Amino acid sequence: MVVSMKEMLIKAKNNKYAVPQFNINNLEWTRFILEECQKNNSPVILGVSEGACKYMGGFKTIYDMTNDLMEYLNITVPVSLHLDHGSSFDACKEAIDVGFKSVMIDASRFEIDENIRITKDVVDYAKEHGVSVEAEIGHVGGQEDDNNSGILYAEVDECIRLVNETEIDFLAPALGSVHGPYKGEPKLNFERMKELSDKTNLPLVLHGGSGIYDEQLKMGISCGICKINFNTELQMAWNSALRSEINVNQAYDPRKVIKFGEKAMKECISTKIALLGSNNRA
Ligand code: 13P
Repeated sequence: MVVSMKEMLIKAKNNKYAVPQFNINNLEWTRFILEECQKNNSPVILGVSEGACKYMGGFKTIYDMTNDLMEYLNITVPVSLHLDHGSSFDACKEAIDVGFKSVMIDASRFEIDENIRITKDVVDYAKEHGVSVEAEIGHVGGQEDDNNSGILYAEVDECIRLVNETEIDFLAPALGSVHGPYKGEPKLNFERMKELSDKTNLPLVLHGGSGIYDEQLKMGISCGICKINFNTELQMAWNSALRSEINVNQAYDPRKVIKFGEKAMKECISTKIALLGSNNRA
């Protein structure tokens, strides 16, 4: 059964590593990620955006699919199924009501008072159901589902207000990362990251992990990052393997075609786990 992120991220914070969030897009994606994390004995967070949720048939379908796959595959590492970028109280409530043990409320597009108000409503509901809550502040740049935004670095005093006034479990401060490919070099504000980690004492989350240099990811972990989200890099690894195989392999059965990208995707997953140090931390 899927679990909340709380215990896994507190353990990560105490032991200075990070747990990967890999976003899922379909059954095969979920299966490949679960199998590879089990092989590496790594805890894992399966991120589901609202768009991916609609694509896959709704929260309940995903919840049942994940738990049933875990049972079928004998997955014993801790797995958290997490609503990624929940856009409203209603979206978070819907996920919680079907059994999700972790949600992100992303009210970062609002002014701080409104962000706090919406986030607090989600936390109050989530706490009644034993569900952990991540919240965002500032703007992660790039594209997430259908939303495009520029980077806006999170302010320290606003982060502290958000944490103290809502009692969230994890903070996702925008500090220079973007969703999707980077144009130019990623410019992360590590000084502010460390300050936020010291002042809030919460596990920090880094969105837009794809394309951030390995040394920067390690630096982030040393500055208090305990969860790093990856989506684009897995998609690219799967896609380029599929493109080269499909030209030479005449298979037309979708079960075979989708698997053309399995090896490359799993290699990418293992590489990220080793980099984050979450292997053998289950
Ligand atoms: P990337 O697609 O850039 O890896 O970002 C994923 C993410 O942050 C999901 O919330």
